[in-house]
Amino acid sequence: MTNIILSGCNGRMGRMISRICGESDDVTIAAGVDVYAVKLDAYPVFASFPEVDTVADAVVDFSNPSALKSILEFCVTKHIPLVLCTTGYSEEQLADIRAASKSVPIFRSFNMSVGINLLTELIKKAVPVLGKNFDVEIIEQHHRTKIDAPSGTAIMLAEAVKEARGAGEFVYDRHSVRQQRGADEIGISSIRGGTIVGEHSVIFAGPDEVIELKHTAYSREVFAQGAVRAAKYMAGIKEPGMYDMSDII
Ligand SMILES: NC(=O)c1ccc[n+]([C@@H]2O[C@H](COP(=O)([O-])OP(=O)(O)OC[C@H]3O[C@@H](n4cnc5c(N)ncnc54)[C@H](O)[C@@H]3O)[C@@H](O)[C@H]2O)c1
Repeated sequence: MTNIILSGCNGRMGRMISRICGESDDVTIAAGVDVYAVKLDAYPVFASFPEVDTVADAVVDFSNPSALKSILEFCVTKHIPLVLCTTGYSEEQLADIRAASKSVPIFRSFNMSVGINLLTELIKKAVPVLGKNFDVEIIEQHHRTKIDAPSGTAIMLAEAVKEARGAGEFVYDRHSVRQQRGADEIGISSIRGGTIVGEHSVIFAGPDEVIELKHTAYSREVFAQGAVRAAKYMAGIKEPGMYDMSDII
């Protein structure tokens, strides 16, 4: 049985993970942490990490970047592996995460869906086969309330293309410049509307043929399921360092 401490337990993702763990017979929540410290399930809920008196096999975080410092301190002090799912960290916070990973195993992914992470691996396989004759464009679609653009996941996919090609210039806006696309460009376009949970298309446009790899998330549950899978994986990891879905896949 994997015991987890769930940070942000009373948020949208936290509630979903609580339900998944409640129905699971191999993962359970030992305690929750949330600034909205109301007990909604069988486990105790603390308002902050310094108050937590429970040990666990892993900490899973779906809260807010403002919680990062106390989460890192808790995990480093208690030597508990951490699964960080929160997005929107500053460069300074990302450096803090990397520093903490020198003493504790930390899993982090922009996107916890196993499908998106498989898509990343497929991109890395497609790029060398198709070669530089195929232009790569990425289109991401999200709901009308998403503030940031492009999505962190689109950047993650673009980084995978760049890494596999050995070169890549991210282009977000073709509106302001009137010129042909360059061979190394990776175009990234964003669409916002309605309740779209998340759609990412990677288009390889070559001479007289086009290949499109697409992932569609129909519910946030895919992220919750991926996080629980990551928690179970990280519970068995002793070696400090940074981990991501590619380690699981
Ligand atoms: N990596 C992924 O695949 C993925 C998927 C979905 C959401 N997310 C990210 O997870 C985070 C949470 O998403 P959500 O939709 O559940 O948000 P939410 O606003 O519904 O829930 C966040 C919860 O965290 C709590 N919280 C806020 N600040 C806190 C703090 N300092 N300490 C403790 N608790 C705190 C809030 O009270 C709330 O209950 C966001 O950053 C979101 O972008 C990541």
